[in-house]
Amino acid sequence: MRSGVFNLVCGALLLAHDTAAQALSSSKWVLRTEGGVQYACKCFPGDRCWPNDAQWQKLNATVGGNLRINIPPGAPCYNTFQGPLGNVSTLNAAECEKVTAGWANEQFQIELPAAGLWTYFTNDTCRPTTNPSDTCTLGYYPVLVIMAKTAAHIQAGINFARDNNLRLVIRNTGHDFLGRSVGWGALVINTHSFQDIKFSKSWRGVGAYTGSAVTVGAGVQAFKVLQQANALKPPKIMVTGECSTVGVAGGLVQGGGHGPLTNLYGFLADTALEFKVITADGKLRTANANENPDLFWALKGGGPASFGVIVEASYKTFDDTPSAGITLDINTSHTTNATLFWEAVRKFHGYSTHFVDKGLYVYYELGLAGQSLHVHPFVGIGKTLAELQGIVKPLFDDLDALGIRYTTSGQSFPTFYDLYQAMFEAEFAGNSALTGGWTLGRTDVENNHDAIIKAFQTILNAGSFMVGHMWNAGHGLPQKEWNNSAVNPRFRNVVDKLITLVPVSGNAPLSEKATAQDKLTNVVDGALRAASPNGAAYINEADPFQPDWQTAFWGTNYPTLLKIRERYDPNGVFYAVSTPGTENWAQIETGTRLCRKL
Ligand SMILES: Cc1cc2nc3c(=O)[nH]c(=O)nc-3n(C[C@H](O)[C@H](O)[C@H](O)COP(=O)(O)OP(=O)(O)OC[C@H]3O[C@@H](n4cnc5c(N)ncnc54)[C@H](O)[C@@H]3O)c2cc1C
Ligand SMILES: *[C@@H]1O[C@H](CO)[C@@H](O)[C@H](O)[C@H]1NC(C)=O
Ligand SMILES: *[C@@H]1O[C@H](CO)[C@@H](O)[C@H](O)[C@H]1NC(C)=O
Ligand SMILES: *[C@@H]1O[C@H](CO)[C@@H](O)[C@H](O)[C@H]1NC(C)=O
Ligand SMILES: *[C@@H]1O[C@H](CO)[C@@H](O)[C@H](O)[C@H]1NC(C)=O
Ligand SMILES: *[C@@H]1O[C@H](CO)[C@@H](O)[C@H](O)[C@H]1NC(C)=O
Ligand SMILES: *[C@@H]1O[C@H](CO)[C@@H](O)[C@H](O)[C@H]1NC(C)=O
Repeated sequence: MRSGVFNLVCGALLLAHDTAAQALSSSKWVLRTEGGVQYACKCFPGDRCWPNDAQWQKLNATVGGNLRINIPPGAPCYNTFQGPLGNVSTLNAAECEKVTAGWANEQFQIELPAAGLWTYFTNDTCRPTTNPSDTCTLGYYPVLVIMAKTAAHIQAGINFARDNNLRLVIRNTGHDFLGRSVGWGALVINTHSFQDIKFSKSWRGVGAYTGSAVTVGAGVQAFKVLQQANALKPPKIMVTGECSTVGVAGGLVQGGGHGPLTNLYGFLADTALEFKVITADGKLRTANANENPDLFWALKGGGPASFGVIVEASYKTFDDTPSAGITLDINTSHTTNATLFWEAVRKFHGYSTHFVDKGLYVYYELGLAGQSLHVHPFVGIGKTLAELQGIVKPLFDDLDALGIRYTTSGQSFPTFYDLYQAMFEAEFAGNSALTGGWTLGRTDVENNHDAIIKAFQTILNAGSFMVGHMWNAGHGLPQKEWNNSAVNPRFRNVVDKLITLVPVSGNAPLSEKATAQDKLTNVVDGALRAASPNGAAYINEADPFQPDWQTAFWGTNYPTLLKIRERYDPNGVFYAVSTPGTENWAQIETGTRLCRKL
């Protein structure tokens, strides 16, 4: 390792690039060259600038003994974990059985210090095995983890990473589709211990809002806060993701955070009242409409792990109301006729503008089981089943006129929370795929729908499948509040947020990985972008390597976000792929070393 590492002595070369030169003057940068480009890289195990044992022990003391060497979750199934800090004997039959049984269970993976639920970006290394003599390496899992218990632990972690020029990763639930909660050679700060939840009947903080609110710690997951909110009298609800295991104060809000309530109240970010946040300089700050308003705005959808580490977040809560849901399935049990199937999909999707205009949220999967449409469910919040049936009737009339068979069911619930519990399906961990996606602009659906359906066919023919979420984040939120969040303003005029998935194993040959990435960017998402030029991309569920990502993710808000990033994190203490200000950063050497272009 060492022979490939150079100490920085070539100051003259670097003076031309002032920010780089300033950062590099610390000499805690490692120079590398790849593809004819010069890079200054962060410090990784084996580099001279990697901290020594005494420094790590000092950090460990500062964080109350909560520093851990990270061992991949599957290691107990192997004789030896061959880690960057040395070999460790790891075989443990009982632990191996546990991890094998828990692998696909989201909550099992969430509770682990540094696991990634979607495994592609761990490099699919050291998966549970029945052959203990297989090789277990660290892959792209991080090297060390601080299991933070207090804000001071987070501050110590940020200071240590900044001063020693280490790659720093913030890890909450590990849900991330883009690999942002793992990272080769990194130090992790795990925020899962921050589990406080406090409700208030009326918000007494700054701002005009005086309604009910909740303050949650960084590690709180949706199911926990929703369950407690439902137990209040009267029952309350808040904007969360459709998936109940995602955190509500980490990556979700910093990407925006859409869910079944988005058509009514906008993004989770649109409901944020205040954050306690630690910035790259190690300072704990309050961010709200009065204090650090630029930071407050940027944390609301400006990109995860970019502006600081959220310790605590406060959100509006709303009265929960009776709700109704309807499911619809059309698959090969109903018809094997592809022409008929796609006619039905065209009818279904043609009503997306109608559904969102009537306030519905519609969650569906297309192509997950081959020729299949799985709508699970149409959601009417504050609507009776009869009202919901009335809204979807034109679609069902059209399906009947086509003469296609389908399966449907409907149910009403005393609250939306009851519907959420009963009708949304569990999701699984341990899958490996590249995630893409695009959000369809309303005008494109109105004027270019045939091209959109052709794009869907292209996606399924490419072996990919889609998850759709019909909402418009400008439907229920008053227009004067639209710019209070940093999300792409285009999300206020959309009708369907799509996720595309291209299955590929994280340990596939490099050529196969390159082919999958090319397929995602140019075939699958390329088809959607071409069919919907007025759409946008959602940073938490999209291809970070798409062309012109700055505009796709943030539109007209990008230049302002870039300035705020430069103000709060000028030297790149934080990093998440394709977030504001990361244009000159790359993970070179097959996705390992994080470096800045010179
Ligand atoms: C099964 C599944 C369902 C999903 N459903 C939805 C949905 O309905 N709606 C939706 O909007 N999104 C959804 N997502 C995407 C989700 O928004 C992202 O995965 C999000 O990044 C998760 O945030 P997290 O904090 O829970 O996870 P993590 O993976 O731990 O973190 C994600 C990112 O946020 C950063 N981060 C985490 N905590 C902090 C913090 N305290 N301060 C600063 N940065 C932090 C991390 O560094 C990382 O970059 C879903 C994802 C999955 C896997
Ligand atoms: C940190 O200290 C704790 C408590 O003394 C110890 O158990 C742990 O192994 C230490 N971590 C590292 C990485 O040395
Ligand atoms: C670690 O174990 C592997 C496999 O047994 C061996 O090849 C390697 O030399 C060991 N490394 C060290 C540093 O002991
Ligand atoms: C990651 O996986 C690729 C194969 O897809 C392999 O070539 C590479 O060595 C792996 N890197 C690490 C650090 O595990
Ligand atoms: C089709 O949908 C029905 C109703 O949900 C389901 O029971 C059946 O298993 C599905 N068939 C296929 C082939 O996916
Ligand atoms: C398939 O459905 C289409 C559209 O309804 C119809 O025109 C065609 O005849 C059907 N094909 C077969 C083989 O049934
Ligand atoms: C929001 O800001 C954008 C520019 O960033 C502007 O074009 C748009 O008109 C603003 N929208 C509202 C509702 O103020």
